[in-house]
Amino acid sequence: MCHDNDGIYRVKLLYMILVQLAVDSDTEAVANQGFKLGCISCKMRGEVPATAAVNWYFKASDDDEFSHLYSYEDLIGDVIDPRFYERLDWNGSKQTKDLQDGSIYILNVTYNDTGTYQCRFNRVLMYPNYEFQTNASKTIIINVVPRLTRGMASIFSEVMMYVSIIGLQFWLVVEMVYCYRKIAAAGEEALRESAAEYLAIASESKDNCAGVQVAE
Ligand SMILES: *[C@@H]1O[C@H](CO)[C@@H](O)[C@H](O)[C@H]1NC(C)=O
Ligand SMILES: *[C@@H]1O[C@H](CO)[C@@H](O)[C@H](O)[C@H]1NC(C)=O
Repeated sequence: MCHDNDGIYRVKLLYMILVQLAVDSDTEAVANQGFKLGCISCKMRGEVPATAAVNWYFKASDDDEFSHLYSYEDLIGDVIDPRFYERLDWNGSKQTKDLQDGSIYILNVTYNDTGTYQCRFNRVLMYPNYEFQTNASKTIIINVVPRLTRGMASIFSEVMMYVSIIGLQFWLVVEMVYCYRKIAAAGEEALRESAAEYLAIASESKDNCAGVQVAE
């Protein structure tokens, strides 16, 4: 229990990541400004060479289905949806076919960009004797607003994050005090033991002296 600080930091980190994910899923973009649509898919087997293609799909708020928005493969990005011509830039991994970041950037957000975006990763892992295909996707709901406002969910989760960090910090202090006391008590115990030993030796030598005296 006394050497578990690592665990506390791990919990803290995990909590921050969870909060970040929660905040990410509720997203606002500001009209007439740029906006980055983030999408990251980490390769689990870092040592295995791979290639990946990223495709983005878009469903405007009054559409029924997703339509193909953008594709990036073999270092070439292509805007497919005419609504986004000249307005999209690749913000993902550069100069590699082994993509881990598939983010794109909308240069000038309009109100018509409100809707659902989906990023799909198709990755091929190249093992020595075979290839293995994996897919991952992420959905982002974008709300276009005149100015950036903060959603209640985002404020709430930030407050919760600080409350729990302070709570964990307090726990850490309590545990440190507890450990300190335990160590101090153990120290006293050791002192008492060595004092007892010292007395025992002293009385032994006294006996010896007595023995010597008797012999005399
Ligand atoms: C963004 O688009 C609006 C209208 O769609 C236009 O008035 C504005 O000049 C554009 N801004 C930039 C930086 O291109
Ligand atoms: C994303 O792309 C935009 C437009 O090209 C650029 O201004 C911005 O710096 C890029 N951001 C990153 C992190 O690459």
